[in-house]
Amino acid sequence: MRQYNSMVNNFYDKRCKMVQVAIMGYGVVGSGVAEILQTHKKSLEKKAQEEIGIKYILDLRDFPGDPLADKFTKDFNDILNDGEVSVVVETMGGLSYAYQYVKSLLEHGKSVVTSNKELVAAKGAELLQIAADKNVNFLFEASVGGGIPIIRPISQCLAANEIDQIAGILNGTTNFILTKMIHEQMGFDEALKLAQQLGYAEKDPTADIEGFDSVRKICILASLTFGKHVYPDNIHTEGITKITPEDVEYAASWGGVIKLIGSVKMLEDGRIDIFVSPMFIENESQLAGVSDVFNGIMVRGDATGDVVFYGKGAGKLPTASAVVADVIDCIKHRKQRKYLYWTDSEENYVLPWEEGTAAMYIRAFAPNTDETYVKIKEIFGEVQMLSRNGEQDDEFAFVTEEKTIGEILKEAGAFEQAGARIVSKIRIGDL
Ligand code: HSE
Repeated sequence: MRQYNSMVNNFYDKRCKMVQVAIMGYGVVGSGVAEILQTHKKSLEKKAQEEIGIKYILDLRDFPGDPLADKFTKDFNDILNDGEVSVVVETMGGLSYAYQYVKSLLEHGKSVVTSNKELVAAKGAELLQIAADKNVNFLFEASVGGGIPIIRPISQCLAANEIDQIAGILNGTTNFILTKMIHEQMGFDEALKLAQQLGYAEKDPTADIEGFDSVRKICILASLTFGKHVYPDNIHTEGITKITPEDVEYAASWGGVIKLIGSVKMLEDGRIDIFVSPMFIENESQLAGVSDVFNGIMVRGDATGDVVFYGKGAGKLPTASAVVADVIDCIKHRKQRKYLYWTDSEENYVLPWEEGTAAMYIRAFAPNTDETYVKIKEIFGEVQMLSRNGEQDDEFAFVTEEKTIGEILKEAGAFEQAGARIVSKIRIGDL
């Protein structure tokens, strides 16, 4: 009888276990998280082995008529001081409040899941240290690649590899714009306008088109993979605003496409070569076929070779799916936190941009004379001349040999001194 009672009690305990979560920020991703927690309630309960309840939603805005109206609060302390809430989702975005709140929550022993790449890229090392000290989880799968699993694969599934390079198309908006430029011959402005009309690009698209969003993401991947925090402010970041339809045509004549790539490579001397910039990518590369708003991330492991992750890098439900997976992981790793950690940055860890090596595509205007050809060879050495239909008489386009960026910039300066007007310089990718 006693055994029967204990079985019943165990069963009862299991059935009645419930974890309470809070969501901070009820925007696109936060409302997606709430939606998945409700629509997938039963299957999530099975996976987490606990029922997941939403106790609070923090947002300064009002959402009259929302089915979760009774959960809303405008006071962060309601969440911080409620002992029942053990996992908090941060989908507010931005840095100042998100940082203060997440830090306090971790210090109070609550696990935090975030989709906020700005926060992880700026404060990841510090927040992971607090999480380790407090034996709680700080998880951020959704911060890179939206719905594409990448943080967990790098930290767990590929753990047996020495990874020496990660390169990816990490921003859907710019990939959409470039796709329209490549396949529909649109100009940058027209493609950006379309991206805004379709709701991909923000009214102020700066973070996407100038590469700031991509650089945060590659910094997170670099920090995770190589174990030292990499701050985005110090990283060479170029966007796509200067790419022209002519550059797209020259890339095609070279045998490839232009993509905005975030890349990090571990060098033999222990430094990393990391940057965000547009690149010519060969048509054969796995990343060349990643189009529209999709993201693609290539990880080079010594055991696996290249592994490519592909999918929707943004959007309500894809991103919320990654957040909810982290919530489940927090619940399952409540007592024994998941190992996810990197130390703070170190001086001289990042290779200065000019010291990196690459071949470079250069497009310029100069007098259409033999002398210009001679000058190009004299200044740049061996080059591969490119052409396109309808090119102008005084238009020159070529690809240099691989050398340091610093050398190429010097040579470009000398070419301009000799009277040329350079209009494009785009790195050649080795992906
Ligand atoms: N603006 C980002 C993009 C959203 O276009 O990829 C996801 O970080």
